[in-house]
Amino acid sequence: MKVGILTSGGDCQSLNATMRGVAKTLYNKVKNVEIIGFIEGYKGLMYGDYKVMTPSDFSGILTEGGTIIGTSRQPFKLMRTPDKDGNDKVELMKKTYKKLKLDCLVVLGGNGSQKTANLLREEGLNIVSLPKTIDNDLWGTSMTFGFQSAVNIASDAIDCIHTTAASHGRVFIVEVMGHKVGWLTLHAGIASGADIILIPEIPYDIDKVVDAIKKRTKAGKRFSILAVAEGAISKEDAKLSKKEYKAKLAASPYPSVSYEIGKRIEEKTGQEIRVTIPGHTQRGGSPCPYDRVLSSRLGAEAAMMIIEKDYGKLVGIKHDELVRIPLEDVAGKLKMVDPDSSIIKEAKALGISFGD
Ligand code: F6P
Repeated sequence: MKVGILTSGGDCQSLNATMRGVAKTLYNKVKNVEIIGFIEGYKGLMYGDYKVMTPSDFSGILTEGGTIIGTSRQPFKLMRTPDKDGNDKVELMKKTYKKLKLDCLVVLGGNGSQKTANLLREEGLNIVSLPKTIDNDLWGTSMTFGFQSAVNIASDAIDCIHTTAASHGRVFIVEVMGHKVGWLTLHAGIASGADIILIPEIPYDIDKVVDAIKKRTKAGKRFSILAVAEGAISKEDAKLSKKEYKAKLAASPYPSVSYEIGKRIEEKTGQEIRVTIPGHTQRGGSPCPYDRVLSSRLGAEAAMMIIEKDYGKLVGIKHDELVRIPLEDVAGKLKMVDPDSSIIKEAKALGISFGD
């Protein structure tokens, strides 16, 4: 049996743990298996850049962050745009797959990568895919690997800000990753006692945000903490078309939304505002134990699918049971935070403001 594997898109802490889960199970259960690791994701598949892996490559990597075979962003929307030499990228990938006589390709990726995985499936390749992303926004699975590790880091960042904010009596904004969805900000915000949480799914009214800060000041609290997603958006901006909003952001003098929010709060309250951005630290370091378990389980299940030739599916988890979801159902769909969900209601009941 010959199995290709690649890690695609933004990295996360638990990629190696997941690949280890796949490899360990295959080595355990299949007599004769060769695993080919494509270097830097789909790029390696396009240009035949790969490494023949051995069991020792997958040894000792359960706790290691990053990815031992590298990754890169290869946007789905450019997949049918010829490369610099005029080659069709999908055809290049099919050619490598066929040349190597692979039985299947294992893809560890987020939203864009799943769309490409589905495209390759439509083109006749045998695909088994795994849900990677710190954003937890993949449709069909209640959890993606990487998310809980990122929640830990973002929460640690907010915890640290808490003590200094309290000492100085300042308003702090901690900007958490997530341009399209707010899962990470929501969980890290609740986990570390943020007073205000702003996420893309719930457009904010700056006056409501200011009211929440003033209410705290009135109650004798000297500081306030805002957890703000990279993609947080005001009610006015949410009315703009995608194109108009993109143009507005491009012309903005602020490096990110948090700085604009900070400036507007400063103007309205006269209070000193600081912005902290943990940025890519949220994708770094070793996976938390939750992710190590999830990745090991998902990896083992992916290997079972390969053995059973159950292709064209993503392995996910629902109610603690692993599920196999057809790729055509997953591709192109985002799992967003529902503003009417119970977690939002509970957060509001706790007194957290969403600025709405
Ligand atoms: O999709 C994962 C993610 O970390 C997002 O949360 C973040 O907005 C984006 O990637 C950052 O992308 P890049 O690493 O390309 O700067």
